Amino acid sequence: MGWLAWQRFRCITNCTLYPDDCISDKLFRTMADLLVSEGYAAVGYNYINIDDCWLSKERGPDGRLQADPERFPYGIKDLAAYVHSKGLNFGIYEDFGNFTCAGYPGVIDNLKLDAETFASWDVDYIKLDGCYAELEQMETGYPEFGLYMNQTGRPMVYSCSWPAYQTEQGIDPNYAVLAEHCNLWRNYDDIQDSYASLRHIIDYFGQKQDNMTPHAGPGHWNDPDMLLIGNYGLSYDQSRMQMAIWAILAAPLFMSVDLRTIRPEHKEILQNTRIIAVNQDPLGIQGQIVYNTSKIEIWTRKITPVQGDQYSYAIAVVSRRDDGYPYRVQVPLRDVGLTNPSGYLVQDLYGDTTENQLLPDDLIDVRVNPSGVVFWRANIVTDLPSVTTI
Ligand code: GLA
Repeated sequence: MGWLAWQRFRCITNCTLYPDDCISDKLFRTMADLLVSEGYAAVGYNYINIDDCWLSKERGPDGRLQADPERFPYGIKDLAAYVHSKGLNFGIYEDFGNFTCAGYPGVIDNLKLDAETFASWDVDYIKLDGCYAELEQMETGYPEFGLYMNQTGRPMVYSCSWPAYQTEQGIDPNYAVLAEHCNLWRNYDDIQDSYASLRHIIDYFGQKQDNMTPHAGPGHWNDPDMLLIGNYGLSYDQSRMQMAIWAILAAPLFMSVDLRTIRPEHKEILQNTRIIAVNQDPLGIQGQIVYNTSKIEIWTRKITPVQGDQYSYAIAVVSRRDDGYPYRVQVPLRDVGLTNPSGYLVQDLYGDTTENQLLPDDLIDVRVNPSGVVFWRANIVTDLPSVTTI
């Protein structure tokens, strides 16, 4: 969980024209400050991640990567120290190929040196993109870079973009291999600031779920890309829907929003601790779409607490309808896989903390706003015998 620059700030490099928005030391220090002062760090968002366009166009005389000297006048190590002083972790971006997607130097001929440079700057997380690279080289090259990361002795999270470049070419990634070498990986297209893009990604994750979900778990996650919440393209209901689906998908939660100007209702969605608890559930099981009728989808995820082979569940009822009114959905819990004989204590994660007990044959009976969501947590009712006192 954290904050990543790309979706909102892209490759703005003209600091004369846009001093507050350009990819610069100042931007990341400001966002680190706000992550803490606005309460995001306290609920779990504890990474500040640079994306593309931080580099100088040339390597230094020693062959090492260097940051753009004007926009990062104190260098990356100094910025990382500032982020660490706030109790946060620091992430950076590079590319496996000759160039990053925006045309800055890539790592291809310097894998070991660059892994060492990042470790020497006290980096905690590396996103390795795949522009200007040979697809055939990725299957050995990404693990090789990971090996060099490990050899530095500094623990660094490894985010791999290699499967996104495979799917672009119609190749189904080998997720078992990815889970062995990477901590998270971008499966598919870049998210853009629109509902259409969000749906495009959700649909892909639904279609490919049988390939994908078995390989998610603690230390290795599928990554549907950044949260759009608080930007320009999503309505309030669509924002709530993205947060719910990202929780179901056990997705990394990287906000990419201007924390100086975000509206309170968007901040509230991002800081919903009950939804974050679903996202971060210790079992780390990725959820799936289990029902799809009349443009109503139901997504479920197995979560704690567990008893025997019975799980608790997160349940997202998602509407892709556009007929204007909150559409009534009635589906028995049993039909979406909730069969615990003693039933469940159900809570609406966007409502108050009231709990209702439901049995497997009781109905999920809710009204869902157009392109919105109703998001529940259903904790199993345990049937442990009650203690009798003599
Ligand atoms: C690719 C990645 C994005 C972003 C840009 C930067 O498109 O998928 O997430 O990092 O490159 O140029």
